[in-house]
Amino acid sequence: MFARFIIGLSIIISALGLTLPSDQLTNRETLVEAAHNARMLVRDVNTGTMASVYPNTSDLAGRPFAMMEYHAPCYSNGSLTLILMPISRSTQNIFQDPGHHIAYTVNMPTEGIKSPMSRSRVALMGNVTTLRDISLEESEKLSKCYTKFHPDSKFWLPGNSDSPHFSLWARLDLDTIYYVGGFGNIHYIGSIPVDLYAKSQYKVQKDYKLKENDILQNVWENDLDLDLNQIVF
Ligand SMILES: *[C@@H]1O[C@H](CO)[C@@H](O)[C@H](O)[C@H]1NC(C)=O
Ligand SMILES: *[C@@H]1O[C@H](CO)[C@@H](O)[C@H](O)[C@H]1NC(C)=O
Ligand SMILES: *[C@@H]1O[C@H](CO)[C@@H](O)[C@H](O)[C@H]1NC(C)=O
Repeated sequence: MFARFIIGLSIIISALGLTLPSDQLTNRETLVEAAHNARMLVRDVNTGTMASVYPNTSDLAGRPFAMMEYHAPCYSNGSLTLILMPISRSTQNIFQDPGHHIAYTVNMPTEGIKSPMSRSRVALMGNVTTLRDISLEESEKLSKCYTKFHPDSKFWLPGNSDSPHFSLWARLDLDTIYYVGGFGNIHYIGSIPVDLYAKSQYKVQKDYKLKENDILQNVWENDLDLDLNQIVF
């Protein structure tokens, strides 16, 4: 409910943004800029919130669970490296979900910011593949990349015999991305196509060809299935 309220609020702010003079609108963050900015966000902020769903065997079946996790952006296409520990609730939920789905959100730090709502955040949705049978070489590559972002993780890297808990390498592959750049008058709010995100690591893809349905000017009507008149404050 709260998330929906927040989304609703951003949408309304975004809708209000459309009444601004058009010179301000032309400076609004574009989809292609948003894709690059989202990549930078996920590179620069190394913790996020992982949302999973309790399995049908649980008393809390079907209910969402979200908790802080680490990620490392070790793949050029935007897939993320994770360390899964079977002792963790999130990992158990992933293992017991036949599709191994999660949503993983990363947000800009908000300390000292007058309006944290002005800060960007992105939800990366997809499925998790456990990397059980990888070569020593690949495992070393992952360790090198992961510890660059999380030096403290050296104590619980997969294969470390001193680790307090058994752990496994895993990869989150994305199929859906939702980005809120900040207030909608100057920031992009909406879906980011996975193929665009995959190519946006180093630069804004200026020549990216938008498909008809990637143009999200009607995002608050189409993408969210939300009737603004129904929102009660
Ligand atoms: C629970 O999920 C498993 C697989 O995910 C399925 O095989 C089983 O039939 C489900 N049980 C119920 C009670 O829905
Ligand atoms: C991204 O790269 C990973 C690792 O090479 C691959 O397994 C995954 O399928 C790729 N994802 C997409 C969307 O192409
Ligand atoms: C993740 O999704 C892809 C594409 O839908 C699928 O091919 C793959 O088997 C899935 N992986 C897992 C671990 O479920």
